[in-house]
Amino acid sequence: MKGLILSGGKGTRLYPLTYTRAKQLIPVANKPVLIRVIESIRAAGIVEIGIVIGQTGPEIREAVGDGSRWGVRITYIEQPSPDGLAHAVKIAADFLGDERFVMFLGDNVIEGGISKLIADFANSGWNSQIVLKEVANPSAFGVAKLRDDGKIERLIEKPKDPPSNLALVGIYMFDANILKAVHAIKPSWRNELEITDAIQWLIDQGYTVMPHVHEGWWIDTGKPTDMLEANACVLDELKPHIDPTAVIEDSEVDRRVTVEAGARIINSIVHGPTIIGEHTVIENAYVGPYTSIYHHVQVLNCEIERCIVLEHADIRDLGARLGNSLIGRNASIKRKQRKPSTITMNLADHSSVWLV
Ligand code: DAU
Repeated sequence: MKGLILSGGKGTRLYPLTYTRAKQLIPVANKPVLIRVIESIRAAGIVEIGIVIGQTGPEIREAVGDGSRWGVRITYIEQPSPDGLAHAVKIAADFLGDERFVMFLGDNVIEGGISKLIADFANSGWNSQIVLKEVANPSAFGVAKLRDDGKIERLIEKPKDPPSNLALVGIYMFDANILKAVHAIKPSWRNELEITDAIQWLIDQGYTVMPHVHEGWWIDTGKPTDMLEANACVLDELKPHIDPTAVIEDSEVDRRVTVEAGARIINSIVHGPTIIGEHTVIENAYVGPYTSIYHHVQVLNCEIERCIVLEHADIRDLGARLGNSLIGRNASIKRKQRKPSTITMNLADHSSVWLV
């Protein structure tokens, strides 16, 4: 089998972070979501992986390279504009050939591996397997209605009036018949070639599409709150580790904390599950649960919890605890040392600030 990862698109719901970074490269527990996807496909024994890239392609190529670091071979497939998930399959036809493949959306994070699902599909005669998950807000996703016998009755993309609460997870398995489907369908109301419509076409033509209802957690990291939720779920699963080159002095660091190489924790309290990145400094600070602090960050004289902090950020001397926040690269949050005591900001487009 082959793997196909979709990593195009603009990520507008994650502005301003995605002005300067592909959304699939934003780290969750200090590892970019796209790398997590590559690792889970590799864990299922697949080494030939195509990555569909759009305008953030150069950054993705730089981060992933030829894939040898993860023991895979990467082929990049350029999509000139984000014309839909089925369009991405269409343009990947040369890479896919007539092999069976797993398609994984590069912004999805799922509990546990996908190895068993892939093995089930590889050993079956099914034409496709889709993954479903019960959600509270089905209108935000593709939705499946199942019949009493568990087979799929119909699939519909982002319905206003959802026929069920079963969302399509961004993991799909196909044989080469999907290539006929993506050529047969027409663009949707949002002018995209929808993979949901292509799968419905397979069903209508009598091909076998098997649904699998996922029991663990699954997060489509579309919005900042989703990123924080995915971060919390992954931190809960992380096996803690303290790198021998890390320095911990006069501090309380509980056993659910991971500390990466060269990090320094001085006169501070760190409660897990939490990860402190390479060469980051935590000093006179409190770091609470569900926080991921990436590399080369400074957190000085302040309190922070349930945050994702990206590299080279500088957070110091805050009067209140920083929580539920996404802090971008090189961002700086400081307490003003001089009068007048106005709140002063230098915010990027589409930034949000909540004051207490
Ligand atoms: O996450 C699951 C949902 O993903 C499914 O429930 C929906 O049925 C499916 O249509 C899709 O919905 P989204 O609206 O969330 O898809 P999004 O536009 O966020 O794109 C998902 C990934 O695919 C993202 O990493 C960007 C990439 N992509 C997207 C498009 C439209 C491409 O590579 N090319 C594209 O043309």
